[in-house]
Amino acid sequence: MSRRRNIVAGNWKMNKDYEEGRSLARDIVAKLQPSDTLVILGAPYIHLKGVSHIISDINNLHLSAQNCHQEEGGAYTGEITAEMLSSVGCEYVILGHSERREYFGEDDTLIAAKIKRAQAAGLTPIFCCGEKLPSREAGEQEAVVGQQVKEALFGFSAEEVSKMVIAYEPVWAIGTGVTASPAQAQEMHAYIRGLLREQFGEEVADGMSILYGGSVKPANAEELFSQADVDGGLVGGASLKAEDFLAIIASM
Ligand code: PGA
Repeated sequence: MSRRRNIVAGNWKMNKDYEEGRSLARDIVAKLQPSDTLVILGAPYIHLKGVSHIISDINNLHLSAQNCHQEEGGAYTGEITAEMLSSVGCEYVILGHSERREYFGEDDTLIAAKIKRAQAAGLTPIFCCGEKLPSREAGEQEAVVGQQVKEALFGFSAEEVSKMVIAYEPVWAIGTGVTASPAQAQEMHAYIRGLLREQFGEEVADGMSILYGGSVKPANAEELFSQADVDGGLVGGASLKAEDFLAIIASM
């Protein structure tokens, strides 16, 4: 079973060309302070190999993709397998991000299939969940997130779930500049950990790193990360500037 780690993961989304991506990775490598915090760079597919060369000597710096296909291979034009990701030094994959759910119609059944494939290829899935604004306003956030967690993860064994990372990302906070309050984040993270405890037991629940995502920036990271059940962040916009991303890591 895995030990709970503090993690700061960047999600570059569909930003930066190849040279810009390499230059961002180099800037991070140059100024990253040694620490126990696991730092993950979620780069576009095309950057993965180049970035993997740049970060390979740094102990706590790892590489993530932002998606993978659920099949092992075959006639799926334009898609990428989990095995391909492993083969270029990628160790993590973000799955179930709200933008994948919203723009590419991904549901929790498909996300579960992707998680299974990713683990079979030796990748650690970063499973994303989170409610939209109307659900939050109706006070239904726990019902929505609970359903996502159950549908995507409850078909797995405790052993399999212990090798995942979860990111709670309220959709209304992503890219909006509006951040969940530390209390709102803590409440949901504790709820998710409670679900894991009921289904998979204390050891899995305790060992799970649950990251908060949604407009994390240097100014709010420390307070968010200081919450008991917030084990780090999944950072979009602020991960595109080395200085901001490093400041967020430092606040861990
Ligand atoms: P944001 O994105 O930090 O730009 O809000 C977070 C995410 O989508 O992972």
